[in-house]
Amino acid sequence: MKTIVIYFGYGKHTRMIAQRVKEELGCDILEIKPKIPYSSDYQTVVNETEDNLYTKETTEIENIEISLDNYEKVILGTPVWWYTITPPIRTFLTKYDLSGKTIYPFATNAGWLGSTFDEIRELCKGTIKEEMNIKFSTDYAENKLVTSDFEIENWINKVKEDNEWKNKLPVEIN
Ligand SMILES: Cc1cc2nc3c(=O)[nH]c(=O)nc-3n(C[C@H](O)[C@H](O)[C@H](O)COP(=O)(O)O)c2cc1C
Repeated sequence: MKTIVIYFGYGKHTRMIAQRVKEELGCDILEIKPKIPYSSDYQTVVNETEDNLYTKETTEIENIEISLDNYEKVILGTPVWWYTITPPIRTFLTKYDLSGKTIYPFATNAGWLGSTFDEIRELCKGTIKEEMNIKFSTDYAENKLVTSDFEIENWINKVKEDNEWKNKLPVEIN
């Protein structure tokens, strides 16, 4: 039974959490990369994606070199963009069938989660568990967590224990 953390990040927040999950769970990690990178200017990206919630735009992403068939647990990370998931994660969920897997989503944001987890539940055929809302300071450049370390640790432990519990079963359950 293998676990992977899959994420897209524009800045540092989502990557920071994904790395922490990878280290604490000792699992694999995969970054989703758009084929055409977003502007390095924050405000340009904010302006260009302002219809994200309504148009539900996708964007081409780079091919994934590893086989997702090898994984049963997926920790899925996205920043919140205009109250929902980012286009690269939308493309990923549309393109890759995660049915049969357990998905633990987390969303980094500045306090306005909106319908992020609703859209993940809508697009993802896997079993969704332990959704985690991770807030950072509204001052983006600060890279400062608002959600407490305790809460994040608690969530990672729940994901970890879920794996361990399943691993202890004497027979495979489909
Ligand atoms: C285009 C854009 C739209 C955003 N929309 C929201 C939003 O709707 N709600 C919110 O709480 N934060 C919003 N933010 C802030 C980010 O979700 C937050 O800073 C996130 O942690 C950034 O993650 P990253 O550093 O991995 O890119 C937005 C940021 C950008 C760039």
